[in-house]
Amino acid sequence: MCGIVGYIGHKQASDIVLNGLEALEYRGYDSAGLVFFDQQNRPELIKQTGRVKNLLPLLDQVNRANQLAIGHTRWATHGLPTSNNAHPHTNNDQTIFVVHNGIIENYLQLKSLLTNQGYTFNSETDSEVIPMLIDYYYKKLKNFDNGLRAALADLKGTYALAIINSQQPDTIYATRLSSPLVIGVGQDEHYLASDPNAILEHTKKVIFLEDYDLAIISKNKIEINNLSKKRRRKIKSELLDYDQEKSELGNYPNFMLKEIFQAPTTIKEACVGRLLADQGLVKLGGLEMVNSQLNYIDRIVIVGCGTSYYAGLVGEYLIEELANIPVEVQLASEFKYRKEPFSRSTVILAISQSGETADTMAALEKVDGYGCLKLGLVNAVGSSIARMTDAGVYCHAGPEKAVASTKAFISQVTILILIALYLSKGNNQDYQALINEIVNLPTKAQAVLDQAANIKKVALKYKDYANFLYIGRGYNYPCALEGALKLKEITYIHAEGYAAGEIKHGPLALIDKSFPTLAIAVNSSPLLNKTISNIEEIKTRGGPIIALATMGNKKLARIVDDVIYLPDALGPTQAILSAICLQLFAYYIAEAKGLNIDQPRNLAKSVTVE
Ligand code: G6P
Repeated sequence: MCGIVGYIGHKQASDIVLNGLEALEYRGYDSAGLVFFDQQNRPELIKQTGRVKNLLPLLDQVNRANQLAIGHTRWATHGLPTSNNAHPHTNNDQTIFVVHNGIIENYLQLKSLLTNQGYTFNSETDSEVIPMLIDYYYKKLKNFDNGLRAALADLKGTYALAIINSQQPDTIYATRLSSPLVIGVGQDEHYLASDPNAILEHTKKVIFLEDYDLAIISKNKIEINNLSKKRRRKIKSELLDYDQEKSELGNYPNFMLKEIFQAPTTIKEACVGRLLADQGLVKLGGLEMVNSQLNYIDRIVIVGCGTSYYAGLVGEYLIEELANIPVEVQLASEFKYRKEPFSRSTVILAISQSGETADTMAALEKVDGYGCLKLGLVNAVGSSIARMTDAGVYCHAGPEKAVASTKAFISQVTILILIALYLSKGNNQDYQALINEIVNLPTKAQAVLDQAANIKKVALKYKDYANFLYIGRGYNYPCALEGALKLKEITYIHAEGYAAGEIKHGPLALIDKSFPTLAIAVNSSPLLNKTISNIEEIKTRGGPIIALATMGNKKLARIVDDVIYLPDALGPTQAILSAICLQLFAYYIAEAKGLNIDQPRNLAKSVTVE
C-alpha cells in the first residue's frame, strides 16, 4: 500500500528515494512519484502509473543534481490509479509539495471551502487538499510553519506526511497521525520513510515519530514539536538491531509459489529455541517476561485482519482446548468501534504479518486506556505493532512478498500451537503428543508439497467453475475460510467458506452441478462422520465435490468426485497441512488463468488505511 521515502543530505536524493520506493514495492501500489528542487530551485515533479522503474525515463530527462527529495508509492483509495492522482500533490503555484499516506476524511468539505477561495484541483484524491490548505494558511499567516500547523489542525482522518516548499529548499517537514513515519539519522544527512525497511541499507539509527509530532528536518538538524502537547519534544534515537530482509525468487516463477514451498522451513524457524521436545518444554521468551500478568488473565481477545484473522480463529480453538482460557477472535476493523466490556484481566493478542495493518493498530490503540496486557504475534521485526505491544512472539518467517499471505499463516498457526501449549503449563493430556507432532510437522508439510503435481491436476479440472464452497469443522473450519480467501484473492473466483454443519442453513440452496464444494474431511476430526453426512447432502443435490482426506481413507473416494490425500496428523497440526494444500489448489488455478499471482488486482500487502 502507500509508501513514503524522503532524503536530505549530500548524496543524490532522487536516486536514494527511488531505491527506497523500490524496497516498498512488494506492499502493493499502483503509481509512484517524487519531487525535488533543481539547482535553480525549480521543482521537478515526476509521477507515473505502474512500477517505480517507470519513473526512470522521466528522471533521465531532467537534471538530477539534487540533495533533497520526497517520493511516494500510491495505492488508490480516492480516485483512479492515474498519474494525476499519483503523489506528490502540489498547490496551484507549485511551491508546496506533499506526499501522504492515510485518508483525509473531511476532504470534501475542505475541497469545497478551498474551491470557494479560488483554488483549482487537478486530482480526485483526498490528499490534494493538503498542499492547497497549507498554501491557504501560509498566505494568510505569512509564515510557513504557522500555516502548516493551522492546516494540520483542520485535517480529520489519518496521515503520515512529508512536505517541502520552495521557500525552504533545504527542509523537509514530516508529521503523522495513526500512520507510521520514521526518520533515519546519517552523517550530515537524514532519511524519512513510512517503513524502516526503505532506509535500513543506509542507516539503522532512527527516530520513530509519534502522533502529532511535527519534525523539521534539514541536513544536520532535526527539531520535533508535538502539536498536541504543544511543546518541543526531546529527540530520542534508537538503533535498529536487524537488517533489511531481502528475498530473492531463486528458481521460482513468483514469490507465492516460493513462499508456499517454504512451509517446512517456516515451521522449523517458528520452533527454533522454543520447542524443547525432549524436555517436553515450550519456551517463549517474549511471554516469560510477562508471566506474572499472564497468571491472572481470564480472557483473551485476538484481533487481526484477513489471513491473520483466520489464523486467530484456529488459535481460538487451540487455546480454549489446550489451555482452557476463554478466547474471542474479532476482526480488528469491527473491534475498534465496538462498545464492549473490557477489563484488566483480558489480554489482547494482535496477529499481523506486516505489523503495519491500520485496523489492527487501531484495535491496540483502543485498549490503551484499559490497562490490559497487549501481546503481538508479528512477522515483520521492528514493525509498528511489534513496538506497540507489551510483549509477544515473532514469527521469524522471513519476508513475505506475495500479497496473498501463505507462509505467514503457517507460521502464525504453528506459533499459536506453541502459545496454547505454553499457556496450558503442561496441564493437558495431549501436551506431549502435540509436542512430538510438531517435531514431525515439517516432514508432513513436505509430504503435502510433494503432491503438488496431483493437486495441480485436480485444480486444473475445476479451474473454470465460477463459484466454490469450502467446508470444514473444528480446526478445519477456519482453514475452509482461509482456503476460500486464497481462491478469491488470486483467481478472482467467488468462494465461500462455511462450517460444514451450517450448510443446511442456506448455502445448500446454491448447490447444483455448476457449484463445486471443497470439503476438508480428515480423520483427525472427531466429527468426520458428520462432515461425511454433509458431503452426502451436497452430492444428493448434484454438487461436484473435492475432498481433502487422510491417506488411506478409501470410503471418501467412493462418495466424492476427487480426493486429495493428506498425511494423518493431530487436529491443530492437520489444519496446517490442509492450509498448504488449499494454497496450492488456488495457486494452480491462478497460474492456469495466467494471472498476476504475486500482485492480484485491487489488493495490497500492507493495508495502512481503514
Ligand atoms: C492484506 C493482505 C492479506 C493479509 C491482511 C492482514 O489484506 O493482502 O494477505 O492477511 O492484509 O495483514 P497483516 O499484515 O496484518 O497480517
